[in-house]
Amino acid sequence: MEQAVKPVRVGLCGLGTVGSGTFNVLREQAEEIAARAQAPVEVVHVGARRDNPACELTGIKVSRDIMAVADDPEVDVLVELIGGIDTARTLIERAVRSGKHVVTANKALIAEHGNALFALAAEHDVTIRYEAAVAGGIPIIKALREGLAGNRIEWLAGIINGTGNFILSEMREHKREFADVLAEAQALGYAEADPTFDVEGIDAAHKLVILASLAFGIPLRFDAVYTEGITQLTPQDLDYAEELGYRVKHLGVAKQSERGVELRVHPTLIPEDRLLANVNGVKNAVLVEGSAVGPTLYYGAGAGGKPTASAVVADLVDLARDLSAGQLSRVPALAFSIDALRDLPVVPMAEVETPWYLRMEAEDRPGVLSRIASIFSDQGISIEALIQKAPAAGQSRVPLIVLTNRAAQGKVDEAVQQIEELDSIAGRVTRIRVEVLDG
Ligand code: HSE
Repeated sequence: MEQAVKPVRVGLCGLGTVGSGTFNVLREQAEEIAARAQAPVEVVHVGARRDNPACELTGIKVSRDIMAVADDPEVDVLVELIGGIDTARTLIERAVRSGKHVVTANKALIAEHGNALFALAAEHDVTIRYEAAVAGGIPIIKALREGLAGNRIEWLAGIINGTGNFILSEMREHKREFADVLAEAQALGYAEADPTFDVEGIDAAHKLVILASLAFGIPLRFDAVYTEGITQLTPQDLDYAEELGYRVKHLGVAKQSERGVELRVHPTLIPEDRLLANVNGVKNAVLVEGSAVGPTLYYGAGAGGKPTASAVVADLVDLARDLSAGQLSRVPALAFSIDALRDLPVVPMAEVETPWYLRMEAEDRPGVLSRIASIFSDQGISIEALIQKAPAAGQSRVPLIVLTNRAAQGKVDEAVQQIEELDSIAGRVTRIRVEVLDG
C-alpha cells in the first residue's frame, strides 16, 4: 500500500499584509504547491495578535502569544512575518533552538543580526530562509546564491524600496506632493510600519547589506552602509535632471574593487535610456554585473502582500523539497560557506568616485561662473555640462546646474564648501550622485 506523503506543517506568525498574503497563496495554490513541493504545505498554527478578516482560520490553531508557535511540536517550519527586531529575533531563536526551520521576510533582522542567526541555525541543523527580505517577489536571493554562482560579482545596483520608487515616480509623472503619495503607499500596504525607514533609505540599506553579502561573500555589515534618503529631493531637481537626459532614482549600490567594497544607498541620476531609469511605481529592479555572464537584470513587484508572499512560499517549497529528500539544502545561507566569508574593507565615502549633479542659487553677474569654474578646477574636477536657468520674476539669483565628470566625494565636498562660502551663492548646494550603469 502506498504511504501518504507527510505534509509540511507551517506555523505562521503575523497576519498583516505579507502574512495574510502568504496564508491565502498557500490556500489558493495548494494543489500546485503540493505538486512542486512533493508534499502538501499546510498552515497548522497561526500566531497573531488579532485575526485578519482576509484569512479564513476555521480549523486552524490560533495563538495570541506568538511564542506558542515556536514551542509547538506539531510545527516543522516557523514563518516569521511580524517584522521588527527584538520580538522577531526572540521568536526565531526560540524556533531554531526547538529544531524548527524558519522562513522570514524580515530584512532589518537579517541585515542587523543575520550573522548570529545563521550561526545558531547551523548549530541546530536547521535553515533560515529569507528570499522575501529583498525586493519583494523578485527571486534575487536565489539568483545570487545559485544562478550566478559561477561569477565574481563586480557590482550590483538596484531600486530596492518600492515605496520610495512609487513616490518618485508619482512626483515625476503626475507632479504629486511627496506626503500625499507616501500616504497612498501606506494605505496600499507598501510602506514599513515606520515609513521613515522607506523614505530615509534605511529599508534599502538593510536590503543592500544582504545583497552585498551574497554577492561578495562578506559578512553582513549594516553598520558600514552609507545611507541617504529621498526626503531632500525637490520637484525642481527631478525636472532639471530630466532636462539633462536623466531620471532620479533611489539606488542601492555595491561595488567590489581592489580597494574593498563600496556600500551605499542614495538618490542617483541615471541616464534616461537605461532600463533601471524606467522602472516605475512600486516595482523594484536589481542590475547585477557578473564576470562571466555580464549584466543581468531582475525586475518585479518590490512590495505588497501577494508579491512578497510569492517569495515566502518559494522558500517553503524549497524547504519541503529538502525535507522530502531527507537532505537539507547545501547552499549556504550567505552563498559562501561561513569559513570562506571575507572581511573586505569598506571604501570610505570620501574616496568613492562618481559623476555629480550640483545645483546652486547664484547671483546673475559677471565673474560668478568663472569663480565657480576655478574652484572646480583647483580640486581637479572637470565639468561635463552647465546650465543656467532664467531668474524667477523679481529675483536676482539664478539656478545653476553643474554636471561633473567622475570625482571623489572628498574633492566635491571641498569644492562645495568653498562655493557655499562665496557671497554670490545663496544657501546650500544640492548634490546628487550620477551612475551611468555601464555593463
Ligand atoms: N517597505 C518596503 C518597500 C516593503 O516599500 O519596499 C518591501 O520590503
